[in-house]
Amino acid sequence: MLARLNRVYFHQRLSISFSGCRHRLGLDGGQSDGLNNTKWDGLPPEFFNFIQVIRMDTRPQTTEQDVLERYASASEAVQPSLCCAVSYDPRYLEAIPQEIIDKDYGCGDPSQFIRPGDVVLDLGSGSGKICYIASQIVGKNGRVIGVDFNPPMLALARKYQRSITTKIGWDNVSFRYGKIQDLQTDYEKLDAWLKVNPVASALDMQTLEQYRQTIGEDSPMIASDSVDVIVSNCVLNLVQTQDKGQLFREMHRVLKVGGRAAISDIVSDRDVPQNMRDNPELWSGCISGAFQERAFLRAFEEAGFYGVTIEKREEDPWQVVEGIAFRSVTVMAYKSSDSRKEECTRNILYKGPWACVTDEAGHCFERGVPSAVSEAAYQAMQAQPYTDQVVCLVTDGTPSPQKKDRCC
Ligand SMILES: C[S@@+](CC[C@H](N)C(=O)[O-])C[C@H]1O[C@@H](n2cnc3c(N)ncnc32)[C@H](O)[C@@H]1O
Repeated sequence: MLARLNRVYFHQRLSISFSGCRHRLGLDGGQSDGLNNTKWDGLPPEFFNFIQVIRMDTRPQTTEQDVLERYASASEAVQPSLCCAVSYDPRYLEAIPQEIIDKDYGCGDPSQFIRPGDVVLDLGSGSGKICYIASQIVGKNGRVIGVDFNPPMLALARKYQRSITTKIGWDNVSFRYGKIQDLQTDYEKLDAWLKVNPVASALDMQTLEQYRQTIGEDSPMIASDSVDVIVSNCVLNLVQTQDKGQLFREMHRVLKVGGRAAISDIVSDRDVPQNMRDNPELWSGCISGAFQERAFLRAFEEAGFYGVTIEKREEDPWQVVEGIAFRSVTVMAYKSSDSRKEECTRNILYKGPWACVTDEAGHCFERGVPSAVSEAAYQAMQAQPYTDQVVCLVTDGTPSPQKKDRCC
């Protein structure tokens, strides 16, 4: 008896749910997980008619659904295949219950780049471990926001909030329900609205979209220019390919000028082929959605970040699949004001050790030669990651003439 058919897709496989279970079929329909032929034989003929109809529906399955399902399970039972050994500062783990520590699916430690007083945003906060570490580092004058789109993970992160914050001595953490590639839309608000305004027609969908836009503009989940440091631990790779550009633009939008992103993620040494990208286990397992290493850095540059720096790169790959090495890296990137439009009124001098270095906008700084920069770039160079590399020249404000055409 066909009890319930609630989700079907066709993309190198079929997935169906009935009798409360989800089952997968291969392209030929012959194989399924957990469902043998005898059981198929017992199903009524209409069922197979329906399969026929479904098989003509060639809409691609989104990787998002796979990620949601995988991490919903991972919030219930520890999934060792998702774990990548990371050692965090033990001082900060004392206040955190074992369940949260065990359900750690990170691949690095971006919390090292958080400072007292920071407003921190953790993208894909999972069980909340980095948020609770961050809470202790920023102190009571700082604030920590974790975003995740997985209700069971959010429930786990919130489960111990009271006991943890009692131990820490302050509660400056909040967890938000939403997608990290759309930090404007608060899904909690959307859900509340949908309860009162269920979608039953195309017109309803239009109204929903209008509401989504209105809350995004009037009360975004994360406001523009509001965050000192974005951290993320093994999440960016999970975002759908078509949304990755928007993800980096959103990160740039929410950071304050002078703010920074400290991102630990898995990258690959070569481009991941389509057959691996289409594999839901590899994708949701933080493998096949990984950026190729150079493309990862370029994604920051394209979104307008500067000072993009590899802070940590594991020499040993976390996994090698089909000859491709997947390893953990931690990258820092910074947001400045749009200095390119500004006039060059300052000079800096690059100290070396390279003969010349080039910034994200293509400006070359020769070792030992004064270079004209805008006020914003000059200010940025007095902080990380440049402080040890350049001398900010104290001048009367006249930029060096030989470099005026190359101002940055
Ligand atoms: C590999 S786990 C990492 C969790 C956590 N950062 C840690 O260190 O344990 C990935 C987390 O990101 C969440 N996630 C994946 N894609 C997301 C998206 N597009 N928007 C929001 N959260 C996402 C998942 O629900 C899951 O909790």
